[in-house]
Amino acid sequence: MTTHKILLIVGGGIAAYKACELIRLMRKDGMAVRCVLTASGAQFVTPMTLAALSEQPVHTSLWDLKDEAEMGHIQLSREADLVVIAPATADLMARMAAGIADDLATTLLLATDKPVLAAPAMNVRMWQHAAARRNVAQLKADGITVLDPDEGPMACGEFGPGRLPEPEAIMAAVRRHFTGHSPLAGQPDFADATHRPLFGKHVLLTAGPTREPIDPVRYIANRSSGKQGFAIAGALAALGARVTLVAGPVNLATPAGVERIDVETAREMAAAVKAAMPADAAVMVAAVADWRAEASAGQKIKKSGAAPPALALTENPDILATLSIAPDRPRLVVGFAAETENVIEHARTKLAKKGCDWIVANDVSGDVMGGADNSIHLVTAAGVESWEKLPKDQVAVRLARKIADALA
Ligand code: C5P
Repeated sequence: MTTHKILLIVGGGIAAYKACELIRLMRKDGMAVRCVLTASGAQFVTPMTLAALSEQPVHTSLWDLKDEAEMGHIQLSREADLVVIAPATADLMARMAAGIADDLATTLLLATDKPVLAAPAMNVRMWQHAAARRNVAQLKADGITVLDPDEGPMACGEFGPGRLPEPEAIMAAVRRHFTGHSPLAGQPDFADATHRPLFGKHVLLTAGPTREPIDPVRYIANRSSGKQGFAIAGALAALGARVTLVAGPVNLATPAGVERIDVETAREMAAAVKAAMPADAAVMVAAVADWRAEASAGQKIKKSGAAPPALALTENPDILATLSIAPDRPRLVVGFAAETENVIEHARTKLAKKGCDWIVANDVSGDVMGGADNSIHLVTAAGVESWEKLPKDQVAVRLARKIADALA
């Protein structure tokens, strides 16, 4: 069996730690790995870690005379079968695209005659910047394979494409390289204009719970965390949409590119939704309280010692149903249905009752509310699509793509 030799260039970024796992996977596959660590990469992982995992010396400097005597940079760049860059930072790719050779990594990349596979990692805005787009296009034109970054929440708190692909995914591309299949086959390029299919579209969302006051200190609320709605808002923005997110009281950062309007009660949410219209699509994810106290007391209700006070409730406006029959109704109206039993059956009924186009039904019998995963059924006039249990950010990405298809 031939041993594939990999030259792994580790750039500087928080995702550099994933290079350690990548080395482990490469070794497990029987590959020999030699690492080059850039100066900024060394801010995140140490040469010692990479040396221990690869069981090879780690190269960090162009000016290491010992290396030049024993193994010149030309030789280092030529003896590998494949050069892998993970993480490939915006800066590293810019210098590669310009043909700059001002450190060991870029010198090797300019000197190599071997195939190069780059796994980018950077902030979503950096990835989408025209300069980064140009550099990636240039690298691809130069014959370098540039993987698409993953989409999702980032270390910096933003959301979108830019995360380093998981080590397993990079490894799959490496394996495909050696088996002759194109690592780029079927991979969408999210930052490309053609892959921002919601550009020019306005999508309106509600998310989180509402809080209905009983008196100045007490309220009726529910366990909605807002995570799923926020993730969908971020995923829609990443596909190029202008996103307005009307949010109940939640403890979440606003996803990148999303305009957020904070509200507390159902009636405030209804007013904010009305004000944000028109929209091309509306996704009502909020767990709106069905009822509110008929009259919120002006002062804190006192314990009188006698029987507890009766709480008279009255119905809240149904934002989803109202929007579905509005004269300026969005082209696509999506509702959510949290159910604990007969999920699909209840969702079908809700689809008809609310007058929306889709119902995303989620089974909340487990720990969905506040949890990280979601198990959903997409119920439309055409039928039911049941998705496997997925992390909420992946549900969001999938749903955002479906919405983009529907609005296309
Ligand atoms: O009737 P139910 O609360 O189960 O319906 C859930 C769907 O309706 C969700 O999409 C939710 O955001 C929306 N809804 C609403 N206004 C309400 C109640 C629910 O928009 N008052």
